[in-house]
Amino acid sequence: MTDPPSAPPAWPDRWLSEDPLPSEPFPILANWLTEAFEDGRQPSPHAVALATVDAAGDPAVRMVLVQAIEADAGALVFHSHRDSPKGRELAAHPRASAAFHFSALGRQARVSGPVGHVADVESDAYFATRPVDSQIGAWVSRQSEPLESRAALVAAMERRAAAFGVDLAAPGPSPAIPRPRGWGGFRLRADRIELWHSRPGRVHDRAVWQRTGSGWTSQRLQP
Ligand SMILES: Cc1cc2nc3c(=O)[nH]c(=O)nc-3n(C[C@H](O)[C@H](O)[C@H](O)COP(=O)(O)O)c2cc1C
Repeated sequence: MTDPPSAPPAWPDRWLSEDPLPSEPFPILANWLTEAFEDGRQPSPHAVALATVDAAGDPAVRMVLVQAIEADAGALVFHSHRDSPKGRELAAHPRASAAFHFSALGRQARVSGPVGHVADVESDAYFATRPVDSQIGAWVSRQSEPLESRAALVAAMERRAAAFGVDLAAPGPSPAIPRPRGWGGFRLRADRIELWHSRPGRVHDRAVWQRTGSGWTSQRLQP
């Protein structure tokens, strides 16, 4: 594979190009995500690579969708099965690192810190917004466990839907489906965030913020 030329864009980022750096990094990340959605070229710009380690220190990484950037708290919220490998890894070692790549805008953000569960009421509220087939899927899937066949999964979906009084083949109003206890939100509260913005000639802008007691200390980094 050939090395690509400097990624777009060539223009300076309005937050990272000037010194001193802004004192608050999360409003920048929230703006970057908004701009990536508005730009529209990148599908799912809220997808992050989420890295965890298990109790033995072995790393694992997978994509998840960030459903909220909490700028005031300096946190990200994502949802998953809590008894999945990632859920078990986070139970054993409750820290994670997430990387966004806003490819069309030439930006990366890396966020690391401790991870905990969001309150049940928050998970319930988000679950209620999901499409009914996703809700049924959350009930049926034992995420990352072996599956005998696709037909077995489809049959399990149909059985569970019928038990809830839902006809998956006829979309329309359906009864409220409760959240399965083993599925819910996780909150990654950053203690470190690094922002990267592509500039010509690989003279990229990079900066890292570390959380202090009540705020952040910033440091510009070499590209
Ligand atoms: C773009 C994208 C977004 C995804 N979003 C989620 C998500 O929000 N939650 C989730 O549990 N899995 C999501 N997945 C699936 C995960 O990458 C992964 O396969 C699954 O969660 C099992 O991971 P684990 O075995 O490490 O627990 C997504 C996959 C892709 C490709």
